[in-house]
Amino acid sequence: MKKLAVIYHSAHGHTEHIASHIAQGAATVAGMEVHVLKASELTAAPEALLQYDGVLLGSPTYLGGVSGVFKSFMDATGKMWRTQQLKGKLAGGFTVSSLPAGDKQSTLMAMFTFCMQHGMVWAGNAIIPEQQSGVPYEEAANRLGSWSGMMAQAGHGAPSDDFAAGDVKTARLFGQGFAETLLRLR
Ligand SMILES: Cc1cc2nc3c(=O)[nH]c(=O)nc-3n(C[C@H](O)[C@H](O)[C@H](O)COP(=O)(O)O)c2cc1C
Repeated sequence: MKKLAVIYHSAHGHTEHIASHIAQGAATVAGMEVHVLKASELTAAPEALLQYDGVLLGSPTYLGGVSGVFKSFMDATGKMWRTQQLKGKLAGGFTVSSLPAGDKQSTLMAMFTFCMQHGMVWAGNAIIPEQQSGVPYEEAANRLGSWSGMMAQAGHGAPSDDFAAGDVKTARLFGQGFAETLLRLR
């Protein structure tokens, strides 16, 4: 069995909803044990990360970056950096924001840099946008066209589960793809 942690912060439930679908997608892969964890809880005990082979990081985009709560979690791992305790773990990232672009890319880049500093191995989101093969935009996997990580868009003030079907599909495929990559690593 490989162990995968889906670690997220979510103030209003959107990122939590996407994290849940990512975890469900990953759990469809035989041999994968998936845990969904709140970043705020790991901030107090980041050593809990050591038990995982892979980590998927999720934050809402706040002002073009990760949320303060998620940054606190990242900073809490600083003491693990010196001895590179997280080195070699497979990592990836996802973010939710309300605007079509919304500077989500900056959030993924912050996660990427964090993982590189820890010596982790980054996996992206290798899905060709399905609207290019005729699937309606709202239903298309990777409709937002993000390869460096997974992006989803939630309408401003919308209910936490109010996502385009394409974003939910993307989340599941992203989780599944990440888990399959993790299984291939020795
Ligand atoms: C402080 C703050 C900053 C935000 N900054 C952005 C932003 O830069 N781009 C954007 O598209 N949405 C931005 N948003 C909207 C959130 O990304 C959006 O509401 C998201 O769905 C929240 O996720 P959550 O429900 O998991 O907390 C911001 C929201 C807050 C509260």
